[in-house]
Amino acid sequence: MIETKRLILRPFLESDAADAFEYLKEPMVNCFACMKLNSLEEARTEMQKRVGEKEYYFAIVLKENGKVIGEIDAYPEAANPKEKAVVLDTFSPCWMLNKDYQGKGYAYEAARAFFDYLFREKGARRIYAYTEDYNSSSQRLCEKLGMRREGMFMEFVSFVNNPNGTPRYENTIQYAILKKEWSK
Ligand SMILES: CC(C)(COP(=O)(O)OP(=O)(O)OC[C@H]1O[C@@H](n2cnc3c(N)ncnc32)[C@H](O)[C@@H]1OP(=O)(O)O)[C@@H](O)C(=O)NCCC(=O)NCCS
Repeated sequence: MIETKRLILRPFLESDAADAFEYLKEPMVNCFACMKLNSLEEARTEMQKRVGEKEYYFAIVLKENGKVIGEIDAYPEAANPKEKAVVLDTFSPCWMLNKDYQGKGYAYEAARAFFDYLFREKGARRIYAYTEDYNSSSQRLCEKLGMRREGMFMEFVSFVNNPNGTPRYENTIQYAILKKEWSK
């Protein structure tokens, strides 16, 4: 469990289904389209899958009333998967807040504590984030966290189709921060 001034970051519980359904019934960006939940029943099944995730996948919970207002996660990746002794020191976070709770600094508060946890306790050396070119809030969050803009990949990935059935490609910006930069 990670605690900040206003928030608790903790593993998901089965009883979080209704709160998670509130923001997952309409994911706000294309990259989360595959996470869309169509019913409370689907939300319950999804929560059951998440219950075993204790280290890298957290519900963002308001201390004042225990409501789950979003989520944050990042899993360890190898910097060089071809090496024999693979070191899992690279992480790429996903973050998402219920729209009713955005713009109040909660995402920054949660992400800052989560980055601290990854760098201090989980062996992170580098954290990078992908965000689409139209996603101003996520870009601003990366910048507030001290991440460097490393570049933009044109028509990098497609999460949804255009109305005519062709893939809609997105321009993706990459941000990153190293442990030595975070420590400063
Ligand atoms: C990305 C997200 C988690 C940020 O949450 P948030 O509540 O807006 O974040 P915060 O309140 O902590 O604000 C962080 C900074 O972003 C700024 N910001 C928020 N929305 C913004 C917008 N639409 N345009 C520009 N800046 C914005 C805030 O003002 C703040 O900067 P400041 O302190 O300099 O004013 C939230 O918008 C979200 O869940 N979006 C949908 C999911 C998503 O896009 N996930 C990322 C996929 S790459």
